[in-house]
Amino acid sequence: MKKILITGGAGFIGSAFVRQTLRKHPDYQVINLDALTYAGNLETLADIEKEPNYRFVKGDIGDKELADKLFAEGLDYVVNFAAESHVDRSIAGPEIFAQTNILGTQNLLEAVRKYWTADASRASASRYLQVSTDEVYGSLGSAGYFTEATPLQPNSPYSASKAGADLLTRAYFHTFGLPLLTTRCSNNYGPYQFPEKLIPLMISNALADRPLPVYGDGKNVRDWLHVSDHCEALDIVLHQGAPGEIYNIGGHSEKENIYIVKLILRELKKPESLISYVKDRPGHDRRYAIDAGKMAKSFGWQPRYTFEQGIKETLRWYLKNQKWVDSVKSGDYQKYYERQYGQ
Ligand code: NAD
Ligand code: TYD
Repeated sequence: MKKILITGGAGFIGSAFVRQTLRKHPDYQVINLDALTYAGNLETLADIEKEPNYRFVKGDIGDKELADKLFAEGLDYVVNFAAESHVDRSIAGPEIFAQTNILGTQNLLEAVRKYWTADASRASASRYLQVSTDEVYGSLGSAGYFTEATPLQPNSPYSASKAGADLLTRAYFHTFGLPLLTTRCSNNYGPYQFPEKLIPLMISNALADRPLPVYGDGKNVRDWLHVSDHCEALDIVLHQGAPGEIYNIGGHSEKENIYIVKLILRELKKPESLISYVKDRPGHDRRYAIDAGKMAKSFGWQPRYTFEQGIKETLRWYLKNQKWVDSVKSGDYQKYYERQYGQ
């Protein structure tokens, strides 16, 4: 039985990956390591928490002793999702971003070095995947795409901290020859996204007839990918990718923010008068767009969802799961761990 450590598995993308892994690889033992910050929500995984091959461990990726303990169990795969992930929060308080995203990743890489170097058979069969982001590339003008060779020019404390982790992964591969892989994905959307990010925030505000805060002129462009398409791509890279390689993952689905905001209002039959243009985010990247040609060429990977399909399904999910959103917004979900797991 293979053992996979998924960090940040109580977050938006990590939880989708945990669920997918249990479905796709029923013979794997899945360990979900998550610190349960404000963004980690175990209610999201309530349906699978009793699966015999699933285990939750509450802890910090920066905790050396804990990493030692988990690696000593003998891990075949590690996928590192754990991170502080919201740009606006990184502007308000950068420190935790450097700590979790850079030092936390470095702690995991050290454990990989220690445990997988000592065990040669494990080093050749195991894989560590660093889940990075297209934001490490910085901002594009109106033309062109990010390729894996685009220089890293991060502009926010969030993207700089992700670039730090991304470069440490590169360095640990080159210096120590460890089986490390990196993916850089564009903006994700789908069920269970924390309602501080653009799409769930706008849905939530529209449903409550509250103003929809659009930064600047609303013409910043993001390249949207459904979370399940991202998770499919990660599973492929983890199992078939070549160590040391970087893979861009993206949806070829570039949209201006204002297009998305208006689409949400239209679908929910709410008036555009709810749109409120607010002061721009400092250092706001203008455009992200991914060239995912390497994923297509190497593995034949393509996203399954079109944005129009995916956003409608996502809207239906949020309409049906208002309780989840309310629980997240009120902070009630943070009591779930105590209820479920005691102290
Ligand atoms: P998220 O904020 O929803 O989830 C992050 C999870 O990490 C939470 O469960 C949180 O509790 C956990 N966590 C935070 N600090 C931790 C620590 N020190 N130790 C252990 N767990 C900790 O984020 P997300 O949107 O699911 O993103 C997951 C990963 O994917 C991140 O690394 C992010 O940079 C990357 N990514 C996200 C997107 C996107 O559009 N959301 C796009 C590309 C890449
Ligand atoms: P976000 O979901 O925070 O993702 P990222 O900044 O990592 O791309 O934001 C997506 C886009 O939406 C980005 O251009 C900023 C914009 N935005 C708003 O206009 N208003 C908001 O309230 C938020 C959260 C984002």
